[in-house]
Amino acid sequence: MPFTERQALRIFALLLIVAFVGMLWYAGVLRPAKTGDDASDSEKGEEVYASHDCTDCHLAAHVLRAKSAKGEPGLIRVRKDEKTLIDFLQNDKRHETFLLISENDRRSLVEYLKRQ
Ligand code: HEC
Repeated sequence: MPFTERQALRIFALLLIVAFVGMLWYAGVLRPAKTGDDASDSEKGEEVYASHDCTDCHLAAHVLRAKSAKGEPGLIRVRKDEKTLIDFLQNDKRHETFLLISENDRRSLVEYLKRQ
């Protein structure tokens, strides 16, 4: 017999540990969290943009992405600084949904919009 029972058990236990660690990594428990940096906020902001009524009136997220890849102007033409932009979205009648979005999602959305 190539392995004793004890060796086979050891190998089995080792495999279990490797699988378990792999599973934790896959589930994101061991992976470094991607929160807090502007780039990932902006990625999340794109989802917020796409999942609200914004695209009823504005270009779809994938069109904006194509435009920015070509260096063409996208959504923002007038309100280029963050404060003016937020003031506008909070007070404009057509943008009432903005206030219904959670604070975290709003922050991501603004991070995204600033790049559009
Ligand atoms: C009912 C149509 C409508 C909806 C829905 C709408 N917008 Fe707008 N949005 C407009 C119009 C029209 C303007 C231009 C207003 C102006 O410049 O005075 C505008 C302007 C903007 C601007 C400023 C652009 C600039 O050049 O300064 C941003 C940013 C913006 N919208 C984002 C959003 C987001 C984010 C949503 C979804 C939460 C949204 N809009 C939903 C019609 C809409």
